[in-house]
Amino acid sequence: MLKKVAILANGGDVSGFNAVIRAIVKTAENHGVECYGIIDGYNGLLKKQFEKLSTAQDGEAIGILPKGGSIIGSSTNSNLFNYKIVNDNGEIEYKDMSDVAIQNIKDFGFDCIFTLGGDGTQKSARDFSTKGVNIIGVPKTIDNDVACTEITFGYNTAVSVAMEALDRLHTTGETHHRIMVLEVMGRYAGWIALESAIAGGADIALIPEIPYDIEKVATKIENRKKRGKNFSVVVVAEGAAPKGGSITVLGTRDNGKGVDNTKLGGVGQVVAKQLEELTGLEARNTTLGYMQRGGTPTAFDRVLSTKYGVKAMELALEEKFGVLTVIKNGKLDSVSLDDVVGKNKQIGAVSGNTEESNLRKITMDDDLVKTARNIGIALGD
Ligand code: F6P
Repeated sequence: MLKKVAILANGGDVSGFNAVIRAIVKTAENHGVECYGIIDGYNGLLKKQFEKLSTAQDGEAIGILPKGGSIIGSSTNSNLFNYKIVNDNGEIEYKDMSDVAIQNIKDFGFDCIFTLGGDGTQKSARDFSTKGVNIIGVPKTIDNDVACTEITFGYNTAVSVAMEALDRLHTTGETHHRIMVLEVMGRYAGWIALESAIAGGADIALIPEIPYDIEKVATKIENRKKRGKNFSVVVVAEGAAPKGGSITVLGTRDNGKGVDNTKLGGVGQVVAKQLEELTGLEARNTTLGYMQRGGTPTAFDRVLSTKYGVKAMELALEEKFGVLTVIKNGKLDSVSLDDVVGKNKQIGAVSGNTEESNLRKITMDDDLVKTARNIGIALGD
């Protein structure tokens, strides 16, 4: 019988974290199950930082549906299976701390841990599950690149923010006859870029899945100029790269081994400069950055997050562990965490950035690609 559960939010934050937390807490309370929050992701599991969550008068989970961020924090540097520590000699070492975390789970009597996160978080979740911990994952990321689900929570809000930015860039671009470039996030997937380009009426979208030819992008802008349109709006995914070239990297982080430590960014500026030189039009870049992750979730994300939270708790009550809640054919479902992050490449449109990862990227037969091409959005190929 399920008595006590805990929620862990991990990785870069998204709008919708709190909506999932609220839905889990409410469903748990309706079934007489106690709910705790693990503070600051996997770090809190190691440091035994747990906080009771409730929707009772003055409870922590009250009034959080529209709130951005995460009331229980999140962490982007906490792979407990390869955890960075400074030893007594002041040297950096990487240690497997998973057994300490498992002991903490046992000591506090948690019957199930809900892991809200993207591919890195779910990989650790799968590894904990393999070691016998009852885990249920919920797919979070603005990048929408978690395998086996059609949509992650946080993504729709990010697209909406990018769409609004494009609307605003349109009017200033048109006024000053400029090329307006918008660099959006998304890591190695172009979901945010392509969907916001369609929603925001952009002329060009450069995505990681299609290496671009800058000359072709310039030709598209020149053709628009010939038709009297002396401004253009270009969306560039942070992971986009030129044909035969490589991704633009801002630097690397030192967030422990086993997580993606590449800090992407800068391609928008590069593209803007090249287009200015090639077309003779003035170009300006805007990097949207963390605007895509902060603030209140859209109605879509509030509903999706609530559905995911309720489903996660339902699965726990059924004692169905080692799974991720997903949307499959538009409906709530669950799949084994092994399929999501394992080496199982039989599951469709997946190929990760590392041999081990299963990222969901855009495939060329996706409706978004066809739609974009048919309305004349150039994809740089
Ligand atoms: O994965 C979410 C995301 O926002 C990516 O789109 C982006 O590349 C990355 O996180 C930024 O990470 P950080 O918060 O470490 O700067």
